[in-house]
Amino acid sequence: MAELGHEVLGVDVDDSKIAALSAGTVPFYEPGLPEVLQRNLESGRLSFSTNYARAAEFAHVHFLGVGTPQRHGSYAADMTYVRAVIEELVPMLKGDHVIFGKSTVPVGTAAKLQELADSLAPEGTSVEIAWNPEFLREGYAVKDTITPDRIVLGVRGGESAAEEIAREVYAQPLEQDTPFLVTDLQTAELVKVAANAFLATKISFINAVSEICEITGGDVVALADAIGHDDRIGRKFLGAGLGFGGGCLPKDIRAFMARAGELGADQALTFLREVDAINMRRRDRTVDLAKRAFNGSLLGHRVTVLGCAFKPNSDDVRDSPALSVAGSLSLGGAAVTVYDPQGMDNARKVFPTLNYADSAHAALEDAELVILATEWQEFRELDPEATGKLVASRRIIDGRNVLDVSAWQSAGWIIEALGRSVNNLA
Ligand code: UGA
Repeated sequence: MAELGHEVLGVDVDDSKIAALSAGTVPFYEPGLPEVLQRNLESGRLSFSTNYARAAEFAHVHFLGVGTPQRHGSYAADMTYVRAVIEELVPMLKGDHVIFGKSTVPVGTAAKLQELADSLAPEGTSVEIAWNPEFLREGYAVKDTITPDRIVLGVRGGESAAEEIAREVYAQPLEQDTPFLVTDLQTAELVKVAANAFLATKISFINAVSEICEITGGDVVALADAIGHDDRIGRKFLGAGLGFGGGCLPKDIRAFMARAGELGADQALTFLREVDAINMRRRDRTVDLAKRAFNGSLLGHRVTVLGCAFKPNSDDVRDSPALSVAGSLSLGGAAVTVYDPQGMDNARKVFPTLNYADSAHAALEDAELVILATEWQEFRELDPEATGKLVASRRIIDGRNVLDVSAWQSAGWIIEALGRSVNNLA
C-alpha cells in the first residue's frame, strides 16, 4: 500500500516482528520485499506499531490480514485472530471507517463481523466491513500485490462506501486495466476458497494420473505437456510430484469442506477429501520408493533430502511435503540430512531431530540416497557428474520432476521420478 503511494501504519501484536520491520528487516523470506520495505520506511510513508489506539487514530481505511489457521482437532478455520482485531479496534474508532477483510475466511464471516462491529462501534461511529480477498503467491508477493491479475471486492447490500474507497486505494492498478469485480460479501469470500480449491484439485488431478502412469509405464510429464496445450486445460499447476503444501491450499480445502458441512451441503465438496488424500499419498509413495531402494528397511541408511520449504523461493515450511518426507524417513529409522537455501531455521523449529547441513554440497556428502523435494533453482542446476563424486551411492528420487533424466542416467545414476517410469527410458 505504501508502494502504491499511501500513508500506511502496519499493526501486529507480535513485538519482535514490529521491531524487525521498523528496523527495515522483513522477518521472513520474500524476494523483493526487503527493498520495498526499505524504500517506504525511508520515504516516511510506512511505519509500524503494536498499538491499536494509534491505528484507530491514524486511518479511516483498515486492512485486516491476520491468519486463519486450521483449528486444532478440526478441519474448520480458527477465527480467533480475525474476531480479536474487530474486538480490539472497533471500540476505539471515531467517525466513518471501512475495514477491508483480506484473510481467507469461511463464507458468511463478513456478515457476522459486520454485526459484531455494529455492536461494538461507539455512538456516532460507523464501521463498514467489506471483503477484498488476497490472491498473492509466496515468492511472488510483491509482483502479485503491485500488479494483481484481478481485484475482487465484496460489499454489503444497501448503503456502502467501500467501492468508492477501494477505487481510490487501488487507483494505480485500476489505471492499468486490472479487472475489478464487485460482488456481494459471500461471493467474494467464496471466490477466494474456490480459487484455492481449484488449484489444489488441478494438482491432485495430475498426481492421480501419476499413479496410473506408475502402474502402466506412462510418463506424467509428457502427458501434462500434451494436455496442457489445450487452452481450456492449460499447463500451469499440472506440475506432478510431491504435491501441494504451505499455509494455504491444504487448510483452505479443509475449511471449505468443514463450512460446506455446517451449511448442510457436505456432499458438494466431498471430492476435496479425495483431493487431500491423493496429495498425501504422494508423500507416502516417496517414502515407499526410498524404502524400496534399501530393500524395505530404512534403518541406519543415509538419506539426503534437498529442500524443506513447501515450495522454492520461500522459507515457509508449514505443511511442507518436503519436510514431511524428511520427517517420515527419519521416524522410519533413516539418518536424514536436509538442506534448503532458506527454510532451515523454520524447519529446525518443527523438526529439531533432523540433521541440517550448511550447504547442498555438505548435505550430499556420503549420501546413499538423494531426494529432490523442493525445486530450488540451485537443485535443478546440480551437475550429475560432480554430484556423483560427493555421494556414496548414485541414487536419486526426483520428487518434483525437474531433473534431466537422461543426463543423470548417463552419469551412472539410478533415478526415479514420481509418475514416470524413467528407468525404461535409459
Ligand atoms: C496459494 C495460491 O496459489 C495463491 O493464489 C493464494 O493467494 C495463496 O495460496 C493464499 O491463499 O494465500 P501459495 O500457497 O504461495 O499460493 O503457493 P502455490 O504457488 O499455490 O503452491 C502451493 C503448493 O502447490 C506448493 O507446495 C507447490 O509446490 C505445489 N504445486 C504447485 C505443485 O505441486 N504443482 C504445481 O504444478 C504447482
